[in-house]
Amino acid sequence: MELSQEEREFLDGSQGRATAKAMEILVALGTIYGAERMLPVSSVQIAGVSYDNLGEAGLQFLDEMAEGGGQSRVLATLNPAGMDVESWQALGISPEFAAQQQRVIAAFARMNVITTCTCTPYLAGNLPRFGEHIAWAESSAVCFANSVLGARSNREGGPSALAAALTGRTPAYGYHLDENRLPDLLVEVQTEVTGTQAFGALGKAAGDRLQKAGKKTPYFRGLEQATLEELKSLCASLATYGGSALFHIQGVTPEAGLVRLPTESIAIRQADLEAASASLSDADPSEVDFVSLGCPHLSLREVAHLAELLQGRRVRGEFWITTARPIKQIADRMGYTQVIEASGAKFAADTCCVVAPIKGRFTAMATDSAKACYYAASKNRFKTLFKPFDQVALDALEPQE
Ligand code: F3S
Repeated sequence: MELSQEEREFLDGSQGRATAKAMEILVALGTIYGAERMLPVSSVQIAGVSYDNLGEAGLQFLDEMAEGGGQSRVLATLNPAGMDVESWQALGISPEFAAQQQRVIAAFARMNVITTCTCTPYLAGNLPRFGEHIAWAESSAVCFANSVLGARSNREGGPSALAAALTGRTPAYGYHLDENRLPDLLVEVQTEVTGTQAFGALGKAAGDRLQKAGKKTPYFRGLEQATLEELKSLCASLATYGGSALFHIQGVTPEAGLVRLPTESIAIRQADLEAASASLSDADPSEVDFVSLGCPHLSLREVAHLAELLQGRRVRGEFWITTARPIKQIADRMGYTQVIEASGAKFAADTCCVVAPIKGRFTAMATDSAKACYYAASKNRFKTLFKPFDQVALDALEPQE
């Protein structure tokens, strides 16, 4: 791989131990994928933040990188942590876990990484523009950056994203190159799709078909429009079930008009969405003892809407609202937090129902997120009930007196 003078200096250690290690990681990655050079990146999103996933070995790696003088050279933000960094006690997190999680966040802070802890960095100040080369981890965020924003990122892992932050570089391969951004399957959507749950079901239905066909990059036709919230739901679901990091929607996403339509096609009908939805629900409504909204993290519009739904009401059982800290801070200022917390629902900022250490704590979870259903079952051993956003909230309410 051809390296610039500066990149060679990164590698030979003259910029410090951590930078050398970071460059080694990137050169190894680039060599595996046949990259000819490095690209400068301007934005990084780092996953592998929850101590529940990292464990002691992961924390040790971060400490070593921080002690080795690692400093992010670009705007770098963090994926959700294993707890609400400010109100972890309210979520039933143990002090032992909290102490280790704080050490993880402290290590990132020492490396000049912004400790936002969200999977929607694009709603919290890390918003790349069209065509920008970036290095993001977190499959839903990568899919959003590539598809909706038209930025260019591979699906980084935790170490490669950190390496990109410490060097401001990523190897030039995969989704950074024009030829790898072309769609390979036309998806004709022959039914109306509205709401975050329906878009999640679409991601599940299309994702399963993509896997079967050995394809990765769908081109959707027949979706007239999509809101930001619907798009982030589709991104999370399609990344989970189809392994996709990029899609195009005719008339909606920015590169859709710039690419040729694939020759191979499938159709998605109402029955496919219904089957996809049904496959994500195995809990009886009476079993639900946990409600989680915010996978991916809720937007401000969703938090405001939830405050309207919960106004003057009480919820049954444990109810988590997961979002980015900056969104929570706006909710505080606008009085949404007061309304929501008066209902008994809890904000779980900085974290989510998948990366928090809650395995086995609940029997069944209700959610509007297709991605959350997958991980609730596979990681946390919960049954799931997959419903539209409003229905999830309304079904959790105590009857009115
Ligand atoms: Fe985000 Fe957690 Fe879902 S990281 S996309 S809320 S699984």
